[in-house]
Amino acid sequence: MWGGRFRDGPSAVMEEINPSIDFDRRFYAQDIAGSRAHTEMLAARGLISREDAGQITRGLDQVRREIEDGRFAFSRSLEDIHMNVESRLAELVGDAAGRMHTARSRNDQVATDFRMWVRDAIDRLDDALMALQEALIDQAEAGAETVMPGFTHLQAAQPVTFGHHLLAYVEMFGRDRGRFSDCRTRLNECPLGAAALAGTSFPIDRDHTASALGFDRPMANSMDAVSDRDFALEFLAAAAIAAMHLSRFAEEIVNWTSAQFDFVRLSDAFTTGSSIMPQKRNPDAAELVRGKAGRIFGALQALLVMMKGLPLAFCKDMQEDKEPLFDAADTLDMCIAATVGMVRDLRANAPAMRRATDLGFATATDLADWLVRTLDMPFRSAHHATGAVVRLAEERGCRLDQLDLVSMQSIEPRITESVFEVLDPSRSVASRTSFGGTAPVNVRQAARTARDRFLRTRPVGAGT
Ligand code: ARG
Repeated sequence: MWGGRFRDGPSAVMEEINPSIDFDRRFYAQDIAGSRAHTEMLAARGLISREDAGQITRGLDQVRREIEDGRFAFSRSLEDIHMNVESRLAELVGDAAGRMHTARSRNDQVATDFRMWVRDAIDRLDDALMALQEALIDQAEAGAETVMPGFTHLQAAQPVTFGHHLLAYVEMFGRDRGRFSDCRTRLNECPLGAAALAGTSFPIDRDHTASALGFDRPMANSMDAVSDRDFALEFLAAAAIAAMHLSRFAEEIVNWTSAQFDFVRLSDAFTTGSSIMPQKRNPDAAELVRGKAGRIFGALQALLVMMKGLPLAFCKDMQEDKEPLFDAADTLDMCIAATVGMVRDLRANAPAMRRATDLGFATATDLADWLVRTLDMPFRSAHHATGAVVRLAEERGCRLDQLDLVSMQSIEPRITESVFEVLDPSRSVASRTSFGGTAPVNVRQAARTARDRFLRTRPVGAGT
């Protein structure tokens, strides 16, 4: 490959460690698109002849077809996708192929290809996250009135609606989309034409290639263009946060599908049995979504450590940027798809949620609020009195609304019959009408608004 300078071939282990073709073949389409744009620009600037450009372009189309049809013979001794494409092009069109690399290096080439690949991955993930939001909104509307315990510390805290709980995740995934979109906006500058690191003495037109490849502008500094991978890190950071959100939701599904909660049921499509315990119905898909977050966090960490302390400009270490990112993108894609599947599949068990709400004294705050509102007690005193009422119910093994009025009055004599109205969980949730609160009327409105905010458009900056 290196013509004149080298006399001997690489050692066997060098042939093992050096090539990237086994993984960078994944951006063959971006590589060929980049070469086409570069070739057209060279011809437009008179740096190569129209005739050579035509041959190169037709040759590149043929290479692309060969790869897509599975007829392309990838060679590890040609190291990477860039050399594999160029070498096949030379077989197809002869000398003209050698002119394509004028005013270009693999350093600006790989940076361009990788940015384009990440950009495409962001667009795919945005669609996937939008589908997940839609599935959650549909379920949230169905569960707008379904009362369940809301938890803090995984202890029953206050009644909420199932729909409200699901819409919380719609917000999280909305911010995840926003993070990917921000990343996309920043990465959408074109490195091509930076050449190896210093730019080139040929009168190229970097605006031409940048716009042909859908970038907003060429990158301003040639050394930065070939040597930073912050766009990949931003992508992985956004992916890691999204994976964290998915893992939390997955954990909820694991909890909710256990016999002890039984809040939701998943069909056979998303569960597995046990080879020894016939009664089991394991939420494997949810557990795997929870578990796979670790791989995505690991990819971010791997790339940060690889980049840390590298001097400008390109260093071969940076070839290690691709595998973790590809794996993280694939893993995230799969986790989102599995979560969409589970959300569409799950059936809420409203009676079980209601029983759990009754169990946990979840309307204790409503009682305290009643004391404040009706008796004008300071909240702290109301909190104290309510604590005593809860203890009484606990001692008697009954719900708050099963205590008789006389017993309550033994704690606070001014309590009247009307207190029982707020001890009902359905009334409790119905009263939470503050903006962003859990009342069914809010949830229905929030679901409608969420459709407008999230399902009609991509976040600003995304989409070409
Ligand atoms: N295969 C390389 C990579 O993945 C392409 C850039 C190679 N550049 C170089 N100077 N050796 O980053």
